[in-house]
Amino acid sequence: MNRAILSKQVNKDLIDQLKNDTNALLSFLQNKNDGTIIYVLKKLGRLENGYSREPLLNLLNSPNENIRALAIKNLAKIGDVTLLSTFVKYANSDESTEVRRESVSAIGRLRNEKAIPVLTDLLKDDDPKVVMQAIRGLLVFSYKPEIKNELKKLINHPNELIKEVINKEINGFHYKSNSQQKHDEFPAFLKNTVVQGDVQEILKYVPDESIHLTFTSPPYYNARDYSIYQSYEEYLNFLERVFKEVYRITKEGRFFVLNTSPIIIPRISRAHASKRYPIPYDIHPFLVKMGWEFIDDIVWVKPEASVKNRNAGFLQHRKPLAYKPNAVTEMLMVYRKKTDKLIDWNIKQYAWDKIKKSKVLDKYETTNIWRIDPTFDKVHSAVFPLELCNRVVKFYSFIGDLIFDPFAGSGTLGRAALNLNRKFFLTEKEAKYISRIKEELNKNSDLFNSANSQPIIVDMAKFILLSKRKI
Ligand SMILES: C[S@@+](CC[C@H](N)C(=O)[O-])C[C@H]1O[C@@H](n2cnc3c(N)ncnc32)[C@H](O)[C@@H]1O
Repeated sequence: MNRAILSKQVNKDLIDQLKNDTNALLSFLQNKNDGTIIYVLKKLGRLENGYSREPLLNLLNSPNENIRALAIKNLAKIGDVTLLSTFVKYANSDESTEVRRESVSAIGRLRNEKAIPVLTDLLKDDDPKVVMQAIRGLLVFSYKPEIKNELKKLINHPNELIKEVINKEINGFHYKSNSQQKHDEFPAFLKNTVVQGDVQEILKYVPDESIHLTFTSPPYYNARDYSIYQSYEEYLNFLERVFKEVYRITKEGRFFVLNTSPIIIPRISRAHASKRYPIPYDIHPFLVKMGWEFIDDIVWVKPEASVKNRNAGFLQHRKPLAYKPNAVTEMLMVYRKKTDKLIDWNIKQYAWDKIKKSKVLDKYETTNIWRIDPTFDKVHSAVFPLELCNRVVKFYSFIGDLIFDPFAGSGTLGRAALNLNRKFFLTEKEAKYISRIKEELNKNSDLFNSANSQPIIVDMAKFILLSKRKI
C-alpha cells in the first residue's frame, strides 16, 4: 500500500484512538501487513508512562527488524525502568544492529543509575554504533569521576567518530584562534587586491584567519601549457603546501571549494598508453589530514558536445575493455576548516541585516549536479564559467566577505565577488593573465568610481610593503 492511501486509512483520529485503547491497538495490529504496522509505529508520537506495553512487547517477536526496532523506540518513550531488562536482552542478543542500537539508546533514555553497569559493559561492544549510543547514555552521568574515567579509556578507540566525541566531551576540543579580528572582518590591505607572483611566496605575508571563502581551480598538472612540473608527485606536493597555507589563512569553520577533475596525458606514440591521473582523489587525503573537514561533492556537468570526443574508436569496434567515456564532469569538493562549532555559530557572527541581505532568495539548484556550459576565453585556456563562481560565492559566503582564489587565471572569481557585493583577493603568477584580470575589472566601471573598493594590482615587492603597513 502506498503512503498516500495509508495516510488516508490510518488518519490522526485513528492513531489517537489506538494510543488510548490497548485492546483496539492489539486487534488493529493483528493480521496487518508489515508496511501498515511500521506506518502506525512511526506515527504514535508521545507516549505516557501509563501506556500499555503489551502490544509493543508482542511486536518484539516480529521477524521484521524494522518493526522490532520501532517497537523498542516506542517502548523507550514510556520511560519505565522496569523495561530495562527487556532493553538489555535486545541490546545484547538481537541479530539486527539497528535493533541493538535502538535498545542501547532506550537504555540511555531511561537516565537511571541502574543502567550504568550495562552501558559501561556496552562500551566494549564491537559495533561502533552501539558504543556511540552507550557513550550518549553515559554522558548524562559524566559528572561522576568513575564514569568519566570509563569514557576516557575510549580516547584511542579505532573508530574515528568515537575518538572525536570522546575528545570533545572529555578533553574539550577548543579552536585556538590566532586572530584579533572579528569574524566578519579581514585585513584591509587584502581588499580587492590582485598580486602577481608565486602564491607560495605571497601567502607568507597574509595573516592567519584572513579569508572567508576560497574557491579555486589549480593547474591541471601538465595537461595545459601553463603548468610544468617534473613529476606528478612534485605537483601534488606543491598543491599540499599551498592548501596548507590556505588552511592557515582561512577563518574558523569557513569553506574551501576545490574544482579539479581527473586529467589525461596523451600517449607519446601508438606503442604506448595514455595516462589518466585521478587528481581530486589524490588531493583529498592530504586535505583531510591537514584539518579540512569534507562537507560535499558537487558534480559540474558540461554538455557532451563541449568536451573532447574519446568515443570514436569504440563507436566503430564495440570491443569490451576499450570503452572510453567522454569526460563531461568536473568535481567541486567542498571542505570546511575544522572547528568544534556548528555552522550556526558562523552565521551568528554576522549582524542580522547582513544575514538578511545575503540570503539566497532566487531559484537555486537543489541537487549536487550542476549543469553549466563551459566558458571559452581568448587568453586563458581554462576559465571558470561566471555562473559557477556566482553559485559558490552565494552559497558559501556573506556579503562583505573576503573571497580568495590562489590560482586566479583570468580572475573570474573576482568578478563574481564584486557582482555579489563581496571583496576579492587574487594571486596569479603569469603576467598575461594579470593583464586579462585588469581588462576584466576595468569593465566594472563602478568599481573604479568608488574610492572605497578600488582594486589594487601589485607585484610581490609592493605587496610586502602593503602587508607591513597593514593598511
Ligand atoms: C586552471 S587555471 C585557473 C583559471 C581561473 N579559475 C579562471 O577563471 O580564469 C590555474 C592558474 O594557476 C596559475 N598558477 C599556476 N601556478 C601558480 C603559482 N605558483 N602561483 C600563482 N598562480 C599559479 C596559472 O598561471 C593558471 O592561470
